[in-house]
This record gives sequence, structure tokens and C-alpha cells, in this order.
Amino acid sequence: MQKITAAITAVGGYVPEYKLTNAELEKMVDTTDEWIRTRTGIEERRILKGEGLATSDMVVPAVEELCRKRGIQPEEIDCLIVATVTPDMVFPATANLVCERIGAKNAWGFDLSAACSGFLYGLSTGSMFIESGRYKKVVVVGADKMSAIIDYADRATCIIFGDGAGAVLLEPDTEGYGIQDCFLKSDGSGAPYLHMKAGGSLHPATIATVTNHMHYAYQEGKTVFKFAVTEMADAAYQIMTRNNLSDQDIAWLVPHQANKRIIDATADRMGLPAEKVMINIQRYGNTTAGTIPLCLWDYEQKLKKGDNIVLAAFGGGFTWGSVLVKWAYDPK
Ligand code: UT7
Repeated sequence: MQKITAAITAVGGYVPEYKLTNAELEKMVDTTDEWIRTRTGIEERRILKGEGLATSDMVVPAVEELCRKRGIQPEEIDCLIVATVTPDMVFPATANLVCERIGAKNAWGFDLSAACSGFLYGLSTGSMFIESGRYKKVVVVGADKMSAIIDYADRATCIIFGDGAGAVLLEPDTEGYGIQDCFLKSDGSGAPYLHMKAGGSLHPATIATVTNHMHYAYQEGKTVFKFAVTEMADAAYQIMTRNNLSDQDIAWLVPHQANKRIIDATADRMGLPAEKVMINIQRYGNTTAGTIPLCLWDYEQKLKKGDNIVLAAFGGGFTWGSVLVKWAYDPK
């Protein structure tokens, strides 16, 4: 029997219209455009404004675009995985809500919580469903409405995060294209440095949790930075070398967009020049699970069939890892 690999056959994305610029943040908290640019590389981020809008409102257009581009109907989707830390509700899963809204009547699905590494965890999970031979069309989404859990009075976090959604379609391939290898890690001892204190079963919502700002993302940036800069770079390097690839063999690094300095350290560790690194942090900031698929969405026209690309992430949990992909199609 021929070996089945999970090829990425289409990419979709969505970012909200509203741009929250550094200049605007200067009016909200004690910060400067110069500080934000030099410490993070971010110039603006997108915010999903409006009553009643949630993560699913970004996932729906991203998946619909992906179906249009691939020329498939939503009924053909077998499974839809949404990696997110900002689901519409604790339950049901955002994946269920999205399937209903797009008419993916034959799909099952679930949400996956691995913060900024969520898309890589989802890609690894989805690829196994394809490789098993059981499913033919699996959609993996990374999406977050970070503005729902950001305290816009906290300058340490509000300057970093933004909203957005990206999605890929996985289909079986017998010529060796697609997901080649996954290197995924987690370490719960990192939880104190990046988490949301309330809203789960530990601290259900009360007046006190709201008053004490416990429903916002909490980050000790310096500590997270130290781990991220080492582990993300190491994960990217490991997957390259354990697949006997050199920097010359890698067409693109697709790094999680948390901080330009972490991205640069990862590229340096792999020996890659800036021209091989996908970057859109300046326009979108850190969209958590959304960053990697949004990079693929932005750079899709530059990707060629056969390109070796390394995806790498680090995030809350701690979670981190890398995925090696052999790109399956030429620009259209
Ligand atoms: O995506 C999930 C994983 N997350 C990450 O990978 C994020 C990792 N962390 C980071 O990217 C960085 O730590 C930050 C961008 C969050 C912060 O940058 P930093 O260079 O680590 O700054 P810092 O926290 O060490 O703060 C340096 C100084 C402090 O002032 P003092 O104590 O030196 O006087 C902060 O109070 O900068 C101050 N500061 C700010 N100043 C202006 C902190 N935030 C701001 C701000 N504007 N927004």
C-alpha cells in the first residue's frame, strides 16, 4: 500500500478591518511607538470590533475562502479542528458553531487549546487523521480574538496582541508532499508565567474575579521571552537537522509572530537569511493560534511545489514545537 501523507492543499484567512496602531496605544497606556517597534517589531494589530462578534466570526470567512479557493463544498469537509484560547463559549466548541454556520453538515470537529502552539498541535493531529486513511478532508484552523481577554490598561500585554484567523485544508497525497515531521513539546511548569487566572473551573466568574482583573491574559514577558527564544529556535533547528536538511534545503521559516527578536534568533539558529523568513508581525501583532496560518495566507503566492518549510511556535503552557512541511502546490 502506498504511504499517505497529509498535504496542505489550500489556505484561507481573515483579519478584521479595524487597525489599532501604536499611535493609538500611546493615548491609552504609558508607551511609545518607538518602544513597541524596537522591542517587538509591531506597528499595528487588527481588532474585531462590534457587539456580538466572536472568534467564529473570523473562522467562518477564513474557511469559506479556503473552500472557494480549492473548489470544494463545505459538505465535503470530514473534520474541522479549531485551535484557540478564545472560543466563542466554554462549550459547545467553536468548531461545532462554525460547521453549522458554513453548512459543513458531514463534519465532526473540536477545539484544541495549546495557546500560540495551537495551530502546530492541530496540524499534527489533523495530519494523523489523513495518514490513517480514514478521512479525506480535514480543516485545521488557528484563530483568536485576543482583544476579548486583553486588559487595555496593561501596557505589558495590550501592545502585543491582535485578532485574526487562518485555516488550511489537509488532503491525502501519495507523492510525499505535505506534513513530513512534527516535533511538539509541553511543560506545565511554565503555566505561572502566561495564563488567564479566572473563567475556568478553578476560579469561576464572580464579581471578585472581574474586579480583580482575573479574566485577562497575564504574562511575565521577560521570563516567557527567555524560554521562547531558546526553545522555539531549538525546535526549528532540531526538525531541520533530524531530517538531514541544511539551511540551503529550507525555502521558508514560518515562525510564530510574538516578537521580532524571537523570530530573528530562530532564523539565526537555523542559519537562514531574512529573505527566507515569513514576517507579518508589523501588521497583525500576535494573534496567538492565528499567526502561522496567517503567514501562510499572506505568503501563499511565493510558495512553490516541493519547498521545504519549517513552522515553529512557542506559547502559553508552556507549549512549543516545529513542523516540517513539503509544500504541495505552485502559486495560482
Ligand atoms: O506568544 C506567546 C508567547 N509570548 C511571547 O513570546 C512574548 C515574550 N515576551 C516578549 O516579547 C517581551 O518580554 C515583551 C515585548 C512582552 C516585553 O519586552 P522586554 O524587552 O522583555 O521588556 P521588559 O518586560 O523587560 O521591560 C523593560 C522595561 C521595563 O521598565 P524598567 O523596569 O526597565 O524601568 C518595563 O516596565 O520596559 C517597560 N515596559 C514598557 N515601556 C514602554 C514594559 N512594557 C512597556 C511598554 N511601553 N508597552
